[in-house]
Amino acid sequence: MSKAAQRKNEHLSIFEKYYNPKATNDFDEIRLIPNLLPELSLSEIDPRIDFLNHHFPHSFFINAMTGGTARAQEINAQLASVANKFHLAMAVGSQKIALAEPELRQTFSVVRQANPDGFIIANLNANQNVQQVKEAIAMIDANAVQLHLNSLQELINSTGDRNFHLLANIDKIINSIEKPVILKSVGFGLSPHDLRSLQDIGVKYVDVSGTGGTNFIQIENQQNKTHQLAYLSELGLSTVETLRVAQNFPFETIASGGIRNPLDVVKSHVLGAKMVGVSGTFLHPLIKKEPQELELLIEQWIEVLPKIMLMLGKKSIADLAKAKYIPSIKLTNAGDFLDKS
Ligand code: FNR
Repeated sequence: MSKAAQRKNEHLSIFEKYYNPKATNDFDEIRLIPNLLPELSLSEIDPRIDFLNHHFPHSFFINAMTGGTARAQEINAQLASVANKFHLAMAVGSQKIALAEPELRQTFSVVRQANPDGFIIANLNANQNVQQVKEAIAMIDANAVQLHLNSLQELINSTGDRNFHLLANIDKIINSIEKPVILKSVGFGLSPHDLRSLQDIGVKYVDVSGTGGTNFIQIENQQNKTHQLAYLSELGLSTVETLRVAQNFPFETIASGGIRNPLDVVKSHVLGAKMVGVSGTFLHPLIKKEPQELELLIEQWIEVLPKIMLMLGKKSIADLAKAKYIPSIKLTNAGDFLDKS
């Protein structure tokens, strides 16, 4: 197994080591306002969305995680079969490894075999060229592609990328690829500066992927045992902070990072997200080798989400975006600063 493939397996095991289902995050700093006289019944609630030129029965999806090893292939197949069963969109992990080692393509293309008609999203870092992005899309017959922005993670990795002149390359890609191109953070959020830079080159879709869930500085740091940089793990903006900033921009926004339950999904929509990505919470049952637990979890989310919408008196995802909420002082302080930066 190549060093790169070994790292992919280690990501999975180190992820599990740090996974904490009881962790608090900034979604707890948002209070929603219930509506006890909604004049609606549960059957009138509509959790469906139209997004990325597609119709989805559910607004949450399986976000980018893995590929590149036998274990990753097994997890991708399990995720894809759940995506197929519940009609959830699904992104694969970075396909860079399969561009370098073509014999590993099957560890990604398994998601298309398990989910022939589903909405599948390719994934590469924003450093790759147009031809490589086209190859990644073709590898899984993808409906859209994510370009991730992972400079923090790469800089922690002793053999990671060091060049982050990215904007001209992203500009070229969004003007050459017909399918939706999503610019995605990887658990660090996006600052007002980042969002302005992406807006300036005409990016339409962003996945804010902020802090509050999986922390890749922690994961990478654990891999570089000789080079301890754990103190950097507090870097980043939270998903909630980034969503609040992103509302001042014209993007179609995806929320991800620290989504633990359907209430976090609803709060993401209240903060303007069109769609909501989940990685760690859905990966955990598979690492424990309990794929049926993941199915049960998703069944519960599908059942509970419309109930929470009804608790708020909101009939549709678009209505949620108009809901009022009470942010904590911590969030308003951060908001004041971010608005001026
Ligand atoms: C990830 N994530 C990720 N993102 C990406 O764009 N490309 C990738 O290859 C990976 N790889 C990856 C591996 C593992 C094991 C995990 C858990 C996550 C990041 C992921 O898509 C997401 O941005 C963060 O994990 C934050 O979301 P959660 O985990 O808090 O829901």
